[in-house]
Amino acid sequence: MADTAEFTIEGEKYEYPVLSGSCGPDVIDIRKLYGDANVFTFDPGFKATASCESGLTFINGREGVLLHRGYPIDQLAQQSSFMEVAYLLLNGELPSKDEFEDFERTITLHTMVHEQLKTLYNGFRRDAHPMAIMCGVVGALSAFYHDSTDITDPEQRTIASHRMIAKMPTIAAMAYKYSIGQPFLYPDNSLSYVGNFLRMTFGVPAEDYRVNPVIERAMDRIFILHADHEQNASTSTVRLAGSSGANPFACIAAGIACLWGPAHGGANEAALRMLHEIGTPDQIGKYIDRAKDKDDPFRLMGFGHRVYKNFDPRAKVMKETAAAVLEELGVDDPIFDVARELEQIALEDEYFIEKKLYPNVDFYSGVILSAIGFPTTMFTVLFALARTVGWVAQWNEMISDPAQTIGRPRQLYTGPEMRDYTPIGER
Ligand code: SDX
Repeated sequence: MADTAEFTIEGEKYEYPVLSGSCGPDVIDIRKLYGDANVFTFDPGFKATASCESGLTFINGREGVLLHRGYPIDQLAQQSSFMEVAYLLLNGELPSKDEFEDFERTITLHTMVHEQLKTLYNGFRRDAHPMAIMCGVVGALSAFYHDSTDITDPEQRTIASHRMIAKMPTIAAMAYKYSIGQPFLYPDNSLSYVGNFLRMTFGVPAEDYRVNPVIERAMDRIFILHADHEQNASTSTVRLAGSSGANPFACIAAGIACLWGPAHGGANEAALRMLHEIGTPDQIGKYIDRAKDKDDPFRLMGFGHRVYKNFDPRAKVMKETAAAVLEELGVDDPIFDVARELEQIALEDEYFIEKKLYPNVDFYSGVILSAIGFPTTMFTVLFALARTVGWVAQWNEMISDPAQTIGRPRQLYTGPEMRDYTPIGER
């Protein structure tokens, strides 16, 4: 591709550099455009806009490829662990055995939360949506860990990052326990990151909890699949909040709030509700027709993606994991049959083929999470728990970029031109 791009505006020619990354589309560097030509670019939804330079994650939407620091997601899901992927995203390379053990130990030693944090939960109604609790409690963390909020200090950034990753499972499990009226369990440092989360979520003080290794492995894989995903809506929210110098806990709380939306991380909860609403395979056609009807706001939840115009590679791994978990638990969930039948029918339908709509990461996750025992209201909490690794890694990458500046988009103004105020008596 040429190394410059030329614009002609009102007869004037403007030339801007075209930059190439290591993979993916080139970008036109238009940072000087407004100063040169007094015009903005216009791209609602940022469908054709690169907001930053990043080396963390790359998606090839046409090929259905997802790389974390160059490693394909299917290889990481099969061979790595969520803690190792966290290290990889934060540090750029896979750890040595000693590096990994040190990192895992550091995270383990940060899993407890300030004892006073427990009282925050009492301020919520018992039937509060766990995502509402997550927004509130994570947003309050900077009130408890003020000693790691100086973003100009790399040491404090590292401690805050470790605290966020380590404490999310504890905070998430506490949100669940609070919603069902059971006591909180403290972390158990003898367990793995995922095993500890499962025990805090499903264990009770009245008896020992045995971690099921198959479930532990499945959850670890699900967390890997949700760890990071380029500049999606919630990651862009974290970056924008962080660009003002806000503390990392507040930035992650902003990401949680954005993720909750049903078009984004809330889709896993919405997808399972949709599958239950469909109920049986013979009802699928009716919902496919509704999804295609322009006058019907209904969309197939868990289908479609801004970037993937091929299979979401995470959905493939999720579907395999669902089959394995259901078999291990001896669960014959008819909803899984509805999901597979719906996928088959949709993928053969002209509308979905033409619009390149495939199952995304949220389509099968609910089937697995439900079989393991999570209520639907916890699905997006689990997404937030895993995505905290990506949010923290992206936030660190942004803060340590010397060219980092506050994000401040412009607009195409279509409101009234300047006019004089008229006193109410004259209106
Ligand atoms: C996540 O960005 C990320 O990386 C997100 C994520 C991550 O890891 O961070 O991957 C996680 O958010 C996955 C997506 C979860 N959301 C859903 O499953 C909700 C259902 N999907 C849609 O709402 C939609 O597909 C989006 C929001 C995911 C993507 O929307 P786009 O890219 O803005 O596409 P669009 O809305 O412009 O749709 C293009 C066309 C439209 O038809 P036309 O107006 O061109 O005629 O496809 C149609 C849409 O109506 N369409 C669907 C559809 N998704 C898009 N029609 C029916 N069912 C759907 N699910």
